[in-house]
Amino acid sequence: MTLLEVHGPATPIASAVSLTSTAADASLITEPASLVLFGITGDLARKKLVPAIYDLANRGLLPLAFDLVGFCRNPAGVLEQLRRDVEKYARTGFRAATWDDLVRRISLVPGQFDDPAAFTRLADHLTGLDTSNDKPGNYVFYLSVPPATFAGVCDQLAAAGLNRGSDGWRRVVVEKPFGHDHHSSTILNSALEGVFPASAIYRIDHYLGKETVQNILAFRFANGMFEPLWNNRHIDHVQITMAENIGVQGRAGYYDGVGAARDVIQNHLLQLVALIAMEEPVSLDAESISAEKTKVLSATELLGPFDHTAARGQYARLHDKDGFPADSVTETFAAMTVGVSTRRWAGVPFFIRTGKRLARRTTEIAVVFNPPAHGSGRAHLTPVSNVLTFRVQPDDGIALQIGAKSPGGGMDVREVSLDMNFRSVFDQAPEAYERLIHDVLRGDPTLFPRREEIEWAWRIIDPLLEHWGRSGRPDKYDAGSPGPVSADLMLARTGRSWRRL
Ligand code: BG6
Repeated sequence: MTLLEVHGPATPIASAVSLTSTAADASLITEPASLVLFGITGDLARKKLVPAIYDLANRGLLPLAFDLVGFCRNPAGVLEQLRRDVEKYARTGFRAATWDDLVRRISLVPGQFDDPAAFTRLADHLTGLDTSNDKPGNYVFYLSVPPATFAGVCDQLAAAGLNRGSDGWRRVVVEKPFGHDHHSSTILNSALEGVFPASAIYRIDHYLGKETVQNILAFRFANGMFEPLWNNRHIDHVQITMAENIGVQGRAGYYDGVGAARDVIQNHLLQLVALIAMEEPVSLDAESISAEKTKVLSATELLGPFDHTAARGQYARLHDKDGFPADSVTETFAAMTVGVSTRRWAGVPFFIRTGKRLARRTTEIAVVFNPPAHGSGRAHLTPVSNVLTFRVQPDDGIALQIGAKSPGGGMDVREVSLDMNFRSVFDQAPEAYERLIHDVLRGDPTLFPRREEIEWAWRIIDPLLEHWGRSGRPDKYDAGSPGPVSADLMLARTGRSWRRL
């Protein structure tokens, strides 16, 4: 059953232009620009970024004068590899004509991050492209590189005079993880802001580029009936799950020492908490939305004691299967409890969990309402806790679990679901990276977390990371399971249980 359908033009969420409309829409057109991709041979660029740029080209959403410049150690074979990646990962289907057109706009500059001469070559190359394509010096520098190199690359860009320009704009995009803890993130932020103005820094959190995540605000603030219930009088708790069935998959170098909490809870999942818990922004611009998210994050803290309210795990055979050192204590599963100390949310626990090699892939937010206050009185109807679920992926949609009488004699109440599936209602959504890269080219920062949000998110999880740092090894769990037993106990202690994976 379709629970929600939007008829007519809904109020747009921020600048939420639809990438499925045509480029004839003036708001979609971007200025001529060059995008310099550091890390073009890395996993993320190959699987997500270059395919997303290709998809933008396929939809006619790249500027007419556009150049993609890859900065890499060794350009041999890179273009052929990218073509294979695009064939495999592009969402809009591979069209040789689009690729041929795009590849004419790709060039590679060989160099190392610590070589000033390479950055001078890059600057000359960009000027050459501007002259031959008659475009202003609008540059995006996309840092899809290890965080330890962010500051160094920015310094090199500054030394080559690439951070500021008289004839165009400069923007820098940084991938997560943004630091290792609160302290390192402030240092990194200051280093970046020493080189680029704050307004030119785009910190990527690809979850915010997902349509299903942007829809949380539309759901909450475009509809009237849920808002009066959206508080601690009616909501028992919130569960946020991001489960993956894949493992670390060749990313041991990055993942070891980072772990599940830093990899996804500090960023993606705390952003989901912020969107669920924030107040309505006064306007849908970047400033107002970020202000509300920041308020929530600053009121959010972990609930303890951690041995009872949190859990961490490591899947069995991480060492022999995924190349981790045998003594690695990096967690591949993390669960924690946070509270938001505002009048609206005081007393409502938010349970957050994520893990790799779990039973199935799913990301969802479940808002669990209180059952009827006095059971169902004399009617002897079995009370039900209504659950509103935002399914972020893979089966994107929104479901409301309710109690209904099952047919026949008596008054048997069964839990059933009113279910809306995005795919059956809307056109195919653009991939998150496609949306975000397009927004950077358009200069729209709405879907990018600001410095304050990132620093607050570290402040929230730091105490638990420190606690885990002092307390031995994560619990083991089997691949394909729902995670370690300690995670189940964590909820059982509160009289609740996790939604089934
Ligand atoms: C990334 C993490 O940010 O998100 C990965 O670094 C994770 O470890 C990925 O696999 C999951 O993204 P998605 O969009 O598939 O949920």
